[in-house]
Amino acid sequence: MASLLLLTLLAVVAEAQTTTNSAAAITPAASSSQASGLSQNVGPSFAGFGIEPSNLYSFTGGASANKMAMQFFQNLADYAGGPPQFRIGGNTADYMMYDASYKDFWIQSNPNADGQGAIASNSLTFGASYFEAIDRLPKDSPITFGLNLAYQGPNYVQNIVDEASAVLDNLKNVKVFSFEMGNEPDLYLENGFRTGSWDGAQYVKDFKARAVEVYQQVLDPRGLSSNFFEGPATASSIGTTFTIADLVQDGILQKANGSDESYVATWDQHDYFYFVNVSTQPITLDYLTQLSNTEDQFAYWKAEIASSAQYELPYNLREMQSIGPTGLDGISNVFGAALWQLNFFCFAASLNVTSVGMHLVDVSLASTIQPTDEQSNPPKAFARPTYYAYVAMDQLIGAGNGSLQITATNATNLPNGYQNYVRTYSAYSNDSLMSLVFINGKQANASESSKGTLTFDVHLPNHKGKTLFLSYLTADGADVQNGTTFNGVSFEDASTGGKPKSVGDGKIQSVTVGQDGVASVPVRDSEAVIATLNFALGSEPIHDAGSQPSSSPDSSSASVTLATTVATTAAAAATSSSGAPGASPSSSEAFGRRSGSLSFPLRLALVAVFTYSIMKVFSR
Ligand SMILES: *[C@@H]1O[C@H](CO)[C@@H](O)[C@H](O)[C@H]1NC(C)=O
Ligand SMILES: *[C@@H]1O[C@H](CO)[C@@H](O)[C@H](O)[C@H]1NC(C)=O
Ligand SMILES: *[C@@H]1O[C@H](CO)[C@@H](O)[C@H](O)[C@H]1NC(C)=O
Ligand SMILES: *[C@@H]1O[C@H](CO)[C@@H](O)[C@H](O)[C@H]1NC(C)=O
Ligand SMILES: *[C@@H]1O[C@H](CO)[C@@H](O)[C@H](O)[C@H]1NC(C)=O
Ligand SMILES: *[C@@H]1O[C@H](CO)[C@@H](O)[C@H](O)[C@H]1NC(C)=O
Ligand SMILES: *[C@@H]1O[C@H](CO)[C@@H](O)[C@H](O)[C@H]1NC(C)=O
Ligand SMILES: *[C@@H]1O[C@H](CO)[C@@H](O)[C@H](O)[C@H]1NC(C)=O
Repeated sequence: MASLLLLTLLAVVAEAQTTTNSAAAITPAASSSQASGLSQNVGPSFAGFGIEPSNLYSFTGGASANKMAMQFFQNLADYAGGPPQFRIGGNTADYMMYDASYKDFWIQSNPNADGQGAIASNSLTFGASYFEAIDRLPKDSPITFGLNLAYQGPNYVQNIVDEASAVLDNLKNVKVFSFEMGNEPDLYLENGFRTGSWDGAQYVKDFKARAVEVYQQVLDPRGLSSNFFEGPATASSIGTTFTIADLVQDGILQKANGSDESYVATWDQHDYFYFVNVSTQPITLDYLTQLSNTEDQFAYWKAEIASSAQYELPYNLREMQSIGPTGLDGISNVFGAALWQLNFFCFAASLNVTSVGMHLVDVSLASTIQPTDEQSNPPKAFARPTYYAYVAMDQLIGAGNGSLQITATNATNLPNGYQNYVRTYSAYSNDSLMSLVFINGKQANASESSKGTLTFDVHLPNHKGKTLFLSYLTADGADVQNGTTFNGVSFEDASTGGKPKSVGDGKIQSVTVGQDGVASVPVRDSEAVIATLNFALGSEPIHDAGSQPSSSPDSSSASVTLATTVATTAAAAATSSSGAPGASPSSSEAFGRRSGSLSFPLRLALVAVFTYSIMKVFSR
């Protein structure tokens, strides 16, 4: 008791250095049956990635594997109880032709490219090494592979059949989940892939003309069902004939020939929070972390998710980022973006988005994993602050043992100036309240000596005397690139090869629910915390759900994975002084914009990303 008192005093001393506002409050429903607006089950693959095809080798490594980047992905699989969803897709998927005889760890430029398109739809050639590279991703990672719909030369059927066969026959370590048919067909007129009349109805015809061949020549002979495709993979369906409802009317869900199913496995759409030269409003870090802006921007997509549910198909956001096409310095690469990212994961999960794929482009400041030193052997990578939002989300998902459900919970009594910046979520597992997520997006920079703190009174009348363990997502301020931690763990020490490292005092903070049924949880401006009842996130064994891209992981799966290195420290968890555990920034992980010649990434692909970015049609 004496030591507890001492620690409490320390806490008061530490608090005195910050500006403490009057308490906000939340009252989560006690059980999932009492909670309103609860999501479907959030599966382990929920927090996913998209890899731009022309940049694949940057992330996986070429002849020698990028083991550090692969370890970053593996950590997430270990936390969530199953690997993230990966989409290998993007603009460049629509330039690709498969040539089994091409063996290099490289994507070759086709000197005789004659396919239609501002950039020819057969301008790139990939070969067998492409699959060797993809197979380095964590075991059983669900893969959505983008097939070329743009190309319509005389051998178009042969190419798409060859691509699809090679994907299924060559990938062994990962699991092929689906084929994405074309990338952003809503932009095919702008980028010259189609001319004349092109609309959702024509897209459905082109989609089916290829799907029937892939089904009959590739899927059926391998015992796979026809519903193996994703569409429409649109940049934006706003104001187009590509909405889910339009495409259904055009017959996209009609049964495949010789099958009881349609060709469609899931819906797939793309979106970015902000796209340079397309979005029109000024963009600042403050705008990103003003979390109400995400809700405003996503208002339209809610209708598409509802459409998807109407046809009982999962809805996936396969291409997403804070800022496209390649991020912005001081916004997408700093800690504030991690707060945006964690909020986006919780928000999207609460809307029943089955998986979110944050796009990885090797020159993007928004890429969560940044490959570096590609000339070195092995090549290296570092993780940006947004990586810690994946860690947080995946530890939450893993702790839920495959039955995590999320709902937005409104805070009351928020002080003036906080309403648009603060979001809270309640997470349930096995019908019980498990965790609460608090995100305080109000900007506090590292240089501000006195930062505001918002304290939440959490009303938990059924849990008097119980402990809430506090896993903080924190850094010195919204504007820093280094020193982010989640749950006292850092990934900045390159000598670990991408594995987690406990920093600070290794203790997980906690608070006790008082006899009045209230616990007080402090969250500094520009900070988030996941408060978990009765155990610390990452400290419990989790059910390994294996590859479960669907929303309802099979919880009967038996093997158990110990979640994280914090397991060793959580036992010692005690009420400790407030404030984030200190983290020493790594000096070795500077992000060097490579200025000289690019090795793995094709210059062409960069041109493509920039060229087409300007043509994307967004609502804002
Ligand atoms: C999400 O799915 C659950 C379970 O199917 C359902 O009860 C809930 O209403 C859905 N939420 C939304 C926003 O559609
Ligand atoms: C379905 O299969 C039959 C018999 O093989 C064929 O005649 C018909 O054209 C096919 N229809 C479509 C839409 O592929
Ligand atoms: C945005 O437009 C400006 C001015 O045309 C141009 O310099 C810049 O490269 C564009 N950026 C992107 C990402 O398209
Ligand atoms: C939360 O507040 C928003 C308005 O800010 C409202 O639309 C929503 O219904 C509220 N949710 C709950 C569960 O009360
Ligand atoms: C779910 O909750 C029930 C009742 O509280 C308990 O008996 C059961 O062990 C729990 N299942 C899991 C997987 O935690
Ligand atoms: C914090 O940094 C942002 C840039 O991200 C700047 O616009 C803002 O003025 C800074 N705020 C303070 C209080 O220094
Ligand atoms: C998840 O499963 C593990 C292993 O069975 C168990 O120890 C843990 O309590 C479960 N967690 C929850 C939140 O039910
Ligand atoms: C912080 O990160 C930036 C960008 O990655 C890097 O340039 C700088 O050297 C790092 N600072 C420290 C102290 O590690």
